[in-house]
Amino acid sequence: MAPKNLAAAASLMAVALNAMAPAVVNASPPGSKDVTAVLFEWSYASVARECTNTLGPAGYGFVQVSPPAEHIQGSQWWTSYQPVSYRIAGRLGDRAAFQNMVNTCHSAGVLVVVDTIINHMSAGSGTGTGGSSYTKYNYPGLYSSYDFDDCTSQINNYADRWNVQHCELVGLADLDTSETYVRQTIASYMNDLLSLGVDGFRVDAAKHIATEDLANIKSRLANAGIYWKQEVIYGSGEAVQPTEYTSNGDVQEFRYAYDLKRVFDNERLAYLSNYGEGWGYMSSSIAGVFVDNHDTERNGQTLSYKDDAKYTLANVFMLAYPYGAPDINSGYEFSDTDAGPPNNGVVSACWQDSWKCQHAWPEIMRMVAFRNAVRGQAVTNWWDNGNNQIAFGRGSRGFIAINKESSSLTRTFQTSLPAGTYCNVQSNTAVTVNSSGQFTATLSSNTALAIYVGKSSC
Ligand SMILES: *[C@@H]1O[C@H](CO)[C@@H](O)[C@H](O)[C@H]1NC(C)=O
Repeated sequence: MAPKNLAAAASLMAVALNAMAPAVVNASPPGSKDVTAVLFEWSYASVARECTNTLGPAGYGFVQVSPPAEHIQGSQWWTSYQPVSYRIAGRLGDRAAFQNMVNTCHSAGVLVVVDTIINHMSAGSGTGTGGSSYTKYNYPGLYSSYDFDDCTSQINNYADRWNVQHCELVGLADLDTSETYVRQTIASYMNDLLSLGVDGFRVDAAKHIATEDLANIKSRLANAGIYWKQEVIYGSGEAVQPTEYTSNGDVQEFRYAYDLKRVFDNERLAYLSNYGEGWGYMSSSIAGVFVDNHDTERNGQTLSYKDDAKYTLANVFMLAYPYGAPDINSGYEFSDTDAGPPNNGVVSACWQDSWKCQHAWPEIMRMVAFRNAVRGQAVTNWWDNGNNQIAFGRGSRGFIAINKESSSLTRTFQTSLPAGTYCNVQSNTAVTVNSSGQFTATLSSNTALAIYVGKSSC
């Protein structure tokens, strides 16, 4: 995504879509573990170590890494969203570091998703992080002016499909993805990443690429069924809608994050009893969800680490609730929204040098194993107090309670769990479920309780 907020279009316009032929796709992440840690602007060497030390042991299925391609120079984070060549020569590490990261994460049982910038190149001219000279519309040996769309003004009308997909996102040179040469060149970049062993792609700014162009690019990959997660930001009344992209793979459901912020800020957790498809979102099986991402934590459209306990509880809820495949955003503290990563992405240790490591916050991290343990189980035994205290089970495998009120909650909860002793992984304390499936517990203000089969002691 680009450095600025996208203006939402206001007016309505019905657009007739060409029906796409159904494709065989790997929608929803492969494997038995569907949680992704998004290590935003982490160096590849730091990612490798984190896969071994934390992500693998915690049960994360995936790590998503920031864009590897050579990009414009500058300290700001968004420089890595302006590629100037497809060599792995960005701020976060070279080809050897990237390859080592993929191998190390695989050894730890963690698959690798790459944030991939294929909608556009740079906004200006200069020398890239790997030494390549470039001017806007001319990237020697890669693209020339012929390969860019004919609209060189900025996108300014989200009610107009052509404007959204042919003009320039915040002034970034917009690739003409209807061209065979461009499609093949992008596919060659992705195939190079596949040759290094990567397991999936997050397609940045996918809304600004026609869905048929993305389908064509994907069909050119060595593994055309590769996991594929598209950034298509929902906007009411916009010409381009997220559902157009589901035939290619997963689509990020931004409404999930927007609504979660509103509910946690101003409404009632009790409203979440039918969260997901019940709220008009895309099918759970192809939806990518998150509490925040690197754009929305900066533009205020979602919660962020600055919301403290509310943010923690929102992540806990997301991991406990069966809708979509969750991303845990893990970044760094900022006051300047342009500020790039501390130490050029080198993470010496979590919770140092402004690295937030949300993926390793105990309350969040321990819910990853909860989610893996309850996979496939429906919501059962929903309870709420009509306000901001909720609890629910996941079949006979797990149970969670959340108290987002200013006073404590003491209650006997009805579960469908087998009798026994469990570890409440939110606080590392024991909970005993009796033969009626009941237990009594007290939750302090702004805390949660989570127990699941397979975790009997802390
Ligand atoms: C289970 O615990 C609840 C709450 O303490 C209690 O009311 C109930 O009678 C217990 N059931 C059995 C079978 O012990």
